[in-house]
Order: sequence, then structure tokens, then C-alpha cells
Amino acid sequence: MRKIVITSGKGGVGKTTITANLGRKLSADGYKVVLVDGDVGLNNLDVAMGIENRVVYDISDVLAGRCRPFQALALDVETSARILPSSANSADISAQAFRGVVDSLAETFDFVLIDCPAGIEHGFHRAVSSADEAIVVTTPSASAIRDADKVLRLLSTYPLKDVALVVNRTRADLIARGEMLSAKETANILHATLIGIIPDDDYITVFQQLGKTADFAPSKRAFATLSRNVAENTRDVEVPRRRWWRR
Ligand SMILES: Nc1ncnc2c1ncn2[C@@H]1O[C@H](COP(=O)(O)OP(=O)(O)O)[C@@H](O)[C@H]1O
Ligand SMILES: [Mg+2]
Repeated sequence: MRKIVITSGKGGVGKTTITANLGRKLSADGYKVVLVDGDVGLNNLDVAMGIENRVVYDISDVLAGRCRPFQALALDVETSARILPSSANSADISAQAFRGVVDSLAETFDFVLIDCPAGIEHGFHRAVSSADEAIVVTTPSASAIRDADKVLRLLSTYPLKDVALVVNRTRADLIARGEMLSAKETANILHATLIGIIPDDDYITVFQQLGKTADFAPSKRAFATLSRNVAENTRDVEVPRRRWWRR
């Protein structure tokens, strides 16, 4: 039903991570969720979720008629979220064909989350024009904010119902010392609506590759808040607190 693209200007800021964890949380909360990999990169969505060995078909097989859309969906390890993997020749897929696949999935699933490639070229256009809503991911660094600003301007030229911001990799210790902008300061600079603050968390990388989320991970609560804001259209962000083990 809801088609949401997760995008950013800069690469490596956490689009795939946010897509995977948001998708897993929404699924754990009982929603029917499918994650569509719009990117072909080092850390593809299936790899980032530790399910690459479950992949049989990908989006190009669907478009070539080699399988039906549902046959191509890989199942997550921990939740019942499904993943439509990208293919090595994803670059050739047209925006129209991509949108067709997304629309057919949206008939069955509550949430279609599209993991957008970095940059603002064809792959970006294809992913964004297939969605109704966008989540922009940035870190609090100057270069990521600059790129997020460009992307927000570009997104305003698309007929999206909603565009919201997630600030990823915040460090409470650095913010307290004035060495990092807070998520709220970042959102103010961008004039964007903040719906999630995800702390920098080493467990994300470790557990993601096992297809799991750690119950004790500092980011767990942050993803729960983000997921609730997305599901219920609320904007109540919670500032992650400093942890005693983080010096
Ligand atoms: N909040 C976080 N804390 C720690 N590591 C993170 C966090 N978010 C992302 N990462 C790591 O940063 C790297 C890039 O993230 P990724 O989601 O692949 O970015 P993108 O999809 O935007 O290129 C990955 O190794 C990922 O595990
Ligand atoms: Mg990615």
C-alpha cells in the first residue's frame, strides 16, 4: 500500500541499513513488508541482510518473465519481511518497468520500501518516481548534509506526498562536546521533518550480516521509534542517550 523510497545524496550514509532495519521492525510489528533493492553496490540489500544465499531470482528475472514477482522474493532470516534483490544488470531497467513491479507488490504488501542508489542519475529517478513518499538519510557531517540538501531540492520536483529525514550515526559523546551537530540541528539546517535519530552502533554491522538484530544494541530502540513514526505518521523523535561504555 505505502511506497516509500529511502534515499540520500551521498553514498555510504546508511540507506541500506535503514531500509533493512526499518523493514524488519515493521515486519516484526505485524505489517506485510517487502524491500526492493534499487541499488547495485558492494553492500547490496541481500548481502547487508545476510540472505544472499537465499536469492534465486532477482528483479531482472521478473521483468523478463522468467518468474512471477512473488517467486522472486527472498525471505528474511529473522522476520517475515521479503526482499526483491537487484540484478547485476539493473542499470538497464527502465523507470516504467521498475514502477510496474513496485505497483504490483504494493497491491499485496502494507509497505514497499525501496533502497535507492547513491547519486541523482537514472537509478535515483527510477526509484523516486516509483514511490509516493521519501525518507532522506544523512549523517551529521557537513558533506552528507550538503548532499542531503541537494537531494531534498530535487525531491521537491517530484509529486511525493511526504518527505522526511533520518539522521544516522549520531554520537552523543561528540554532540555533548560540541564536536558533532545534533540530529535536531541537522534537521533545522535542512528545513526537514525529523522522524528518526539512529546512533552510531557497532552492533549494526555485526548483527546485520547474521540477519539478526541484537536485543541489547543501542540502535534497537531508535529503530523502534522510527518504525512507529513511519507506521503511525507521527514525528516524536527520541534523542539517543549516552551509554556508559562509550567514552
Ligand atoms: N548507525 C550506524 N552505526 C554503525 N554503522 C553503520 C550505521 N549505519 C550504517 N553503518 C555502516 O556503514 C556502512 C554503510 O552503510 P550502508 O547502509 O551500506 O550505506 P548506503 O546504503 O547509504 O551506501 C555499512 O558498513 C553499515 O554497516
Ligand atoms: Mg546501499
